[in-house]
Amino acid sequence: MIDPAKFVAESVARLSAEVPGRAIVAASGGIDSTVAALLIERALGERARAIFVDTGLLRAGEVERVRAFFRDSGLHFEVVPAADRFLAALAGVDDPEEKRRRIGTAFVRLFEEEAAKFGADSLVQGTIAPDWIESGGALRDTIKTHHNVGGIPADFRLRLVEPLRDLYKDEVRALAHHLGIPEAERQPFPGPGLAVRVTGPVTPERVRRARVANAIVEEEIERAVAAGEIARPWQYFAVLLPVRTVGVLGDNRVHGEAVSVRVVESIDAMTATAMALPRLLLARIAERVTRELSGQVVRVLYDVTDKPPATIEWE
Ligand code: XMP
Repeated sequence: MIDPAKFVAESVARLSAEVPGRAIVAASGGIDSTVAALLIERALGERARAIFVDTGLLRAGEVERVRAFFRDSGLHFEVVPAADRFLAALAGVDDPEEKRRRIGTAFVRLFEEEAAKFGADSLVQGTIAPDWIESGGALRDTIKTHHNVGGIPADFRLRLVEPLRDLYKDEVRALAHHLGIPEAERQPFPGPGLAVRVTGPVTPERVRRARVANAIVEEEIERAVAAGEIARPWQYFAVLLPVRTVGVLGDNRVHGEAVSVRVVESIDAMTATAMALPRLLLARIAERVTRELSGQVVRVLYDVTDKPPATIEWE
């Protein structure tokens, strides 16, 4: 485990020396990239600009939350609306690795444009060790191409700066506490966003359904944690499945979709255990998802698989 104060001091000194010009930070609002953004802000001040991309694949309320947090923490930042661009890049794609590649490329091109506008020649990312290990680094097989690792093309024009490359999540959380980031225990959210929680084709309507289901799972789990019914899980979310299934609505047959609920315990995301949830909590989630997505989602499943053999996200 790192010593947070020492790590911050050393890394700010290293970044000041390593980045002579201007830099943009790929800031997703998650803990990793927020820590990276605060480090570079301390090192470069006005020469740094955090870029938060609204991909249209974010969770409910996320853009407003991140904007408020960045403003409060005094970061120099910009919110770039790009939902149309990301959804267009994903049209007709249902292979998980292809989705990740398309999203990676869309991010890269957008960051190149933003860097050119700001006059930056460096891109700072919050990449942490499991991102590149699972993307096939260190002689491992590629489990998943993380958007921030495998999406970088050979002709990329910016210098990559990754101050958290050797850290694991628990170490980044210790840094987040040290830097005063609220919600340092907030659950991780994958960079490709809801695109990897919409298995099968990514359409605006299917993204909307996944967003509603994810919000319900988050609200119900957080309510149960606050009420002391369960310990805080590592990660909790919903996945829209690529199956059609039959349900009943009033007196009518409906042919709708299915959602899988995933709630896991983990230390560093390299392995994970499916959490045993109270029956009533699961029932409440199923009732809300099928009511708030009435006629659209007619079945809710609970994923009981550990990692390995499954991964945490479905794609
Ligand atoms: P998996 O699904 O590989 O996920 O067991 C391990 C952890 O990483 C998150 N994850 C990602 N994070 N970019 C990210 O920044 C990605 O492409 C990505 N894919 C998965 C996942 O949510 C889990 O916490």
